[in-house]
Amino acid sequence: MSGKGGLEGVVVADISSSLVDGENGRLIYAGYEIEDLAANSTFEEVCHLLWYGRLPKADELELLRSRIAHDAKLPDEIIAMMKALPKQAEPMAVLRTVVSALAHYDPDAEILGNKAVAMHKAIRLTGQITTACAAWDRIRKGHEPIAPRQDLALSANFVYMLSGEEPKKETVDAVDVYMILLAEHGMNASTFTARVVTGTGSDFHSAIVGAIGALKGPAHGGANAEAMRQFVEIGEVENVEPWFTKNIKNGERRIMGIGHRIYKALDPRAQILRDKAKAMAEASGNMKWFLIADNLAQLARADQYFIERKLYPNVDYYSAIVLYTIGLDIDMFTPLFAMSRIAGWSANVIEQMGGRLIRPDANYVGPMGLKWVPINER
Ligand code: ACO
Repeated sequence: MSGKGGLEGVVVADISSSLVDGENGRLIYAGYEIEDLAANSTFEEVCHLLWYGRLPKADELELLRSRIAHDAKLPDEIIAMMKALPKQAEPMAVLRTVVSALAHYDPDAEILGNKAVAMHKAIRLTGQITTACAAWDRIRKGHEPIAPRQDLALSANFVYMLSGEEPKKETVDAVDVYMILLAEHGMNASTFTARVVTGTGSDFHSAIVGAIGALKGPAHGGANAEAMRQFVEIGEVENVEPWFTKNIKNGERRIMGIGHRIYKALDPRAQILRDKAKAMAEASGNMKWFLIADNLAQLARADQYFIERKLYPNVDYYSAIVLYTIGLDIDMFTPLFAMSRIAGWSANVIEQMGGRLIRPDANYVGPMGLKWVPINER
């Protein structure tokens, strides 16, 4: 096997939706710097950019917003199925089940290889995944799910569907910035999974189900929840240094939310989310979680081990603080990641459609020359 494995450095596709420049800490969506989009754009605008390759005009943006809102409603049968699931079911596992089941209610589910039809599925699933996340958070707490409103953009609708109350602007803004930042990211593990499934000629929902499975892992999207659990475990600002010494310097653990396969400089999304997390902490008057995260990051930045390996906070590190500050349960963090990344998955699935089967090779390291032996002689 070449290198350290994990397909490091292997180029598997041409991609037009995003460029991750890991050496310089830059992220570009279809030509636009992520900082520019985070400061000025909306999630629907970014969806348009990723799906159609350009920013929308005002009427195009409103059309896309209203189509996503219109299609965001879940079939009654899906709500009934969700109510039948065990209340303690892990939210990403529920989302995986729901997206798989939604295929049965999509009239176009088995129309394969048609990019215009796939675009409709992308629009539908973008709304439906958000509704499913909010609905599951209510159902598991014994509340009735709330249907999406037709007049709201997706981030506002999510906040609305969690509580049924008029969404607060600061909360919606925080969710929308998060949604913009997480929407797309080169050939990450879940996007690659979606492309592999699509490369076999399989259907759109199967590709997204596969992607959700990959995102769920703690080395990928699951890290935002693990990062927050680690901050909660640290508990107080004065515990940061002893925790670092015991668990990282003298222990076997990794700091969750730090390190990245591609970024060997600061992840630009982490910088934006750090600023956001700090501003939100100051506004709320509770600096504790921000300071725990920030002090731990500073310890790592000054440590030779982290310096040598070019390990910096990734997007999951400070996003954990942002999502915790808006009051989300920790196990809902990764579903929020999926709510956003469906935009990038869809762009990649559509780009992959009609492409060649993705089928890498393997280096056989097993035995050779063995002869079959009757069972009673083994
Ligand atoms: N804490 C401590 N050490 C680390 C960390 C960390 N968070 N991350 C990597 N390292 C070390 C490894 O031990 C290894 O050291 P070695 O060379 O002495 O063996 C070296 O840095 C390289 O690590 P790899 O695991 O080979 O790097 P890889 O590119 O395969 O993994 C990954 C990247 C999975 C993100 C890793 O940095 C990690 O586990 N981070 C914590 C989990 C996390 O935050 N995941 C989210 C990633 S971003 C995203 O998906 C949205």
